Amino acid sequence: MSLVPILIISLILLVITILLIIADTLLVSYGPCRITVHQEDQAKEFTVQGGGFLLSSLTDNGVPITSSCGGKATCGYCKVTVRSGGGHILPTEEIFMSRQEKLSGTRLACQVKVKEDMEIYIPDLLTTVRSIVENKSYDPRLRWRFIKTGQEHYLPAKKLAALPRKQKRQVLAVLEEFEDTPGAVVPALQQINETFNYLPEPILRLTAERLHIPLSEVHRLATFYNAFSLKPKGRNIIRVCNGTSCYVKGGRRILQTIQTRLGIKVGENTRDLKFSLETVTCIGCCGQSPVIAVNEDIYGYFRVSMIDEVLRRYS
Ligand code: FES
Ligand code: FES
Repeated sequence: MSLVPILIISLILLVITILLIIADTLLVSYGPCRITVHQEDQAKEFTVQGGGFLLSSLTDNGVPITSSCGGKATCGYCKVTVRSGGGHILPTEEIFMSRQEKLSGTRLACQVKVKEDMEIYIPDLLTTVRSIVENKSYDPRLRWRFIKTGQEHYLPAKKLAALPRKQKRQVLAVLEEFEDTPGAVVPALQQINETFNYLPEPILRLTAERLHIPLSEVHRLATFYNAFSLKPKGRNIIRVCNGTSCYVKGGRRILQTIQTRLGIKVGENTRDLKFSLETVTCIGCCGQSPVIAVNEDIYGYFRVSMIDEVLRRYS
């Protein structure tokens, strides 16, 4: 096969990339952006030329902010709370954030591009490290000791629950199967999740240990996929579709009635762990709306009058 067409295409792509880089540098201008920084009860304001990263804008203007990876998004130290401006959180940042932090606008300064006026708050390092330990980006078994302005602060090692012996044997049997397969963590977690219906912390730790990957990576995968849950789930998962088509055809009433019958709200389990209730934005059978699913079974043209019968079937 002739290599000429491949070379021509590669050359064209290279030229396009270079042109885009030049255009981005020369033509896209965000103009001057004002940055307001709150840190330890003090506020500071300065103006930078837009287009650079927040971390360098801060350090260039004498704002103390911790970074140990030089802006590669691997240490998580450069956390700031963005109160305005800054765009959306990136996947590279998410592994360092708890759900609460994401909701409150926490970002990694080294990943945020300054494109508009911004207002940010920089927490002290102790708060940042505490959150890193709590989010398990570091090994929670470590004990942290800080000396700050002559005062010592301790972050005690987190008490970790132990895995009952029988469960541990089951988990180890699965992990043994995947031990020598690179990139097998997701299938391993899937198999374990099928057995226990959720992935408690001791299982994540064991997985990290046996598959030789950082606990933070296992934690990231376990929280990324909807199929996994860190909390116990019911044996039967009811998903009520509240996409537009199902919603207008009675999905809301169906959901309310199921909530009343089971005595739980969306996201909760029944006490006997028989059922979990969730909503989804589309099950993919809009032609049969309203639709609900119980585990793998889909119920189209669903009616409130069918709820009791369906619940009985899975009880
Ligand atoms: S500087 Fe290390 S994550 Fe931002
Ligand atoms: S909107 Fe409900 S299945 Fe598509």
